[in-house]
Amino acid sequence: MVQRMIQEEKRQLRDLQMDCLDEWVTHYRSFSGEGQCAAYIPALEKANPFDLGICIIGPGGTVIKSGDWHVSFTLQSISKVISFIAACLGRGISYVLERVDVEPTGDPFNSIIRLEMHKPGKPFNPMINAGAITVASLLPGESPQNKIESLCTIIESIVGKRPTINEAVFQSEWQTAHRNRALAYYLKETGFLEVEVEEALEIYLKQCAIEVNAEDIAMIGLILAHDGYHPLRNEQIIPKEVARLTKSLMLTCGMYNASGKFAAFVGIPAKSGVSGGIMALVPPRSRQEVPFPNGCGIGIYGPAIDEYGNSHAGVMLLRHIAEKWDLSIF
Ligand code: DON
Repeated sequence: MVQRMIQEEKRQLRDLQMDCLDEWVTHYRSFSGEGQCAAYIPALEKANPFDLGICIIGPGGTVIKSGDWHVSFTLQSISKVISFIAACLGRGISYVLERVDVEPTGDPFNSIIRLEMHKPGKPFNPMINAGAITVASLLPGESPQNKIESLCTIIESIVGKRPTINEAVFQSEWQTAHRNRALAYYLKETGFLEVEVEEALEIYLKQCAIEVNAEDIAMIGLILAHDGYHPLRNEQIIPKEVARLTKSLMLTCGMYNASGKFAAFVGIPAKSGVSGGIMALVPPRSRQEVPFPNGCGIGIYGPAIDEYGNSHAGVMLLRHIAEKWDLSIF
């Protein structure tokens, strides 16, 4: 039975790749010129704005890929998903949620405004910078190095290889992180940071500089799609409760102040980063005639980003696929 499911998935995926994925990637790549590589982190500006790649992984282990899926990029804000998971694993969900809320903001990812407007200044959610810097300080481990290691260990347990940190990107952002420093100082003053300001920044900026490719983030998406269960290793990597909470945050806050539009027109949990990555997932569905009825993880890379900080061509490609393959969870 399982064998038949895997064979069917393989056949379907091969057909899908040949029929349409390559064509769609070529088509949407031409829209990359409408976006721009993030210039506020000088090292990210060097990316090729016309790169566009995708990797989709089903629970049977078959993978379809197209375009520039193999290009390495830094996780940036996609790391916020993994650090939230790691903090929940290390400290427990209630401890983490006492320090960071689960409400969307409708503000840009690096906004400071709500910290002062709402007393006592608890960050609205872990997907905006204020929340992510707070969560970085809660990671398991005594030193910034140990805290980063705890993240790398989770990634390794999912993708099967230990990720590295892109030092050039880290240094580039460390020197220009003025607004993140301001956020961290504010959070320190209000008592939400558990470590010193410079330590919190080091952890946060190093987690942003972890290198991956589209296949790696598709695999993380797949595990979340299956409520934390690794279907290829037959192992529960993330507790179901943590995985579900994380997916709800991806859906409501993962694409920043475009999260509402993304939920309405794409309709799946996703998390973006300014380097152009999008990690998305489709939970198993009740209808068997659609592509990926047993769910999938999706990784996209397209470094030209839009005004919200999301991959411009990547969002267009994902919207198109969601429409064609009826991926929306709604
Ligand atoms: O905090 C920053 O500015 C970046 N290192 C991460 C921001 C980011 O990826 C926002 N995403 N779209």
